[in-house]
Amino acid sequence: MKLKCLFVCASVISCSLLGGVVSFTFKAEPQKPRVCVIGAGIAGLTSAHYLKEEGLNFTVLEATQYVGGTWRYDPRVGTDEFGQPIHTSMYKHLRTNLPKQAMELSGFPIPKEYPSFPSWKLFYEYLKSYAKHFQLEEHIKFSHLVESVKRVENAWKVKHKNVKTGEQFEEVCDFIFVATGHHSKPNMPNIPGEELFKGTIIHSHDFREPDSYKGRRVMIVGSGPSGMDIGLDVADVSKTLFHSTHSKVTFRTPFPDNFIKKPDVKRFTENGAYFSDGSFEELDDVIYCTGFQYSYPFLDESSGLTFAPRYVIPLYHYMVNINQPTMIMMGMVVRACLVAAIDAQARYATALAKGNFSLPSKEKMLAEWQTRADLVKSRGRPMSDIHLLAEREDEYYAAIAKESGTSRVPPVLFKMRTLDTAAKLDNLYTYRNYVYNVIDENTFTRCYQDPRESRSCTP
Ligand SMILES: Cc1cc2nc3c(=O)[nH]c(=O)nc-3n(C[C@H](O)[C@H](O)[C@H](O)COP(=O)(O)OP(=O)(O)OC[C@H]3O[C@@H](n4cnc5c(N)ncnc54)[C@H](O)[C@@H]3O)c2cc1C
Ligand SMILES: *[C@@H]1O[C@H](CO)[C@@H](O)[C@H](O)[C@H]1NC(C)=O
Ligand SMILES: *[C@@H]1O[C@H](CO)[C@@H](O)[C@H](O)[C@H]1NC(C)=O
Repeated sequence: MKLKCLFVCASVISCSLLGGVVSFTFKAEPQKPRVCVIGAGIAGLTSAHYLKEEGLNFTVLEATQYVGGTWRYDPRVGTDEFGQPIHTSMYKHLRTNLPKQAMELSGFPIPKEYPSFPSWKLFYEYLKSYAKHFQLEEHIKFSHLVESVKRVENAWKVKHKNVKTGEQFEEVCDFIFVATGHHSKPNMPNIPGEELFKGTIIHSHDFREPDSYKGRRVMIVGSGPSGMDIGLDVADVSKTLFHSTHSKVTFRTPFPDNFIKKPDVKRFTENGAYFSDGSFEELDDVIYCTGFQYSYPFLDESSGLTFAPRYVIPLYHYMVNINQPTMIMMGMVVRACLVAAIDAQARYATALAKGNFSLPSKEKMLAEWQTRADLVKSRGRPMSDIHLLAEREDEYYAAIAKESGTSRVPPVLFKMRTLDTAAKLDNLYTYRNYVYNVIDENTFTRCYQDPRESRSCTP
């Protein structure tokens, strides 16, 4: 009897025999947390990579049949063959707006032969090979749309549907990594008279290629990265390109003669628009490059988050849901090397799920958030600025790495982004001619490659 017990104990649990009384001390492995990742774009893929490396129990639920999220160009707009809204906002001529080194995923070097500012196609290839290299696809349930995530009895109840068969599934997860991106739902400006306008109006989410604007009078609204990039793309073929913006940013680009700066649109008429300075222009087409809205139709009040079109609060370190800290909202930073930031967040989130570190108290997390919220208010800025990293980017990388014991995004990326932004303001046509070379964690060099020169510059 005793012998048998010892044998069993030795193999599964530890036990002690005290004065003939058999007592068991269970040392069963603590239950591994189950992690559900929603989305297989960069945020979902990097999460899957680290979760796999840590041997955690996880699954990735992806609504489409593909990895890469917004980086997979789809010529279609509207809905796909399963009636699902097209997620991607990618356009045909897109090249990255950051040097490739600032878009590299940790542990998987970006190909040397890639140009400094790769096309979406090359970057998408890179993401696919990342998924392949780390064998992530076996952890992804493709064509599975998450329809609801509810907090029930100290866990998350996740309902998802196979969009091909309609079959519904339910599972329970300890952690939720929300990796669904936030460049998909158009933020429309709702300008008076839109319904009267006889021309076309689209949002940049549905812009694919400039060909249909050939010889036409087009207006772009907005001067964010898409506004400027799509503006130049369209101005190459359009008769005129009216660029309406209230941004105070000064672009020193030598714009072509058909590129005409305008203030805010006041109202549309049948054949054009009035602007805030009283001027009127005849227009054929309008492209709103007015940004995107945060959209989490699968989350409800049980998440403890407050959702607005342009912000989600309260998040600790721009990602941890303070009211339910087993939920991580990934990629919710603006003005940063987003790819590197997401990669770092995936390391942080995985270390958290693994139990490598514990979060500060709720009070401390709220205080961190409140400090940022107060700063936004004191600057007289809208709450959407709560997601802005900008000049705090490098501090952020240091802070999350230190807290979680994960590796830090090197300072050189922030430095490269700063110079890249300056080059962009100097000339939107030429900033991608710079060739960058990272020397070490803190330093890089760059040289200007004149496209007319056959000799290549060496940074
Ligand atoms: C046109 C454009 C150009 C850009 N250029 C750059 C650039 O040059 N450099 C840069 O650093 N960043 C750039 N970005 C930012 C870009 O968003 C990030 O690089 C990055 O792709 C974000 O990855 P993500 O995983 O957070 O989101 P996404 O790539 O959007 O992936 C989200 C995934 O979640 C899935 N999903 C959504 N909802 C559900 C659901 N309910 N259930 C299941 N799955 C769901 C989607 O199908 C998608 O696959 C650009 C963005 C756009 C739109
Ligand atoms: C992972 O979690 C699922 C769902 O809770 C469970 O069915 C499965 O047995 C777990 N796998 C491992 C290896 O623990
Ligand atoms: C968690 O800690 C272990 C042990 O220190 C380490 O090997 C692992 O890389 C850490 N995981 C993450 C995701 O940081």
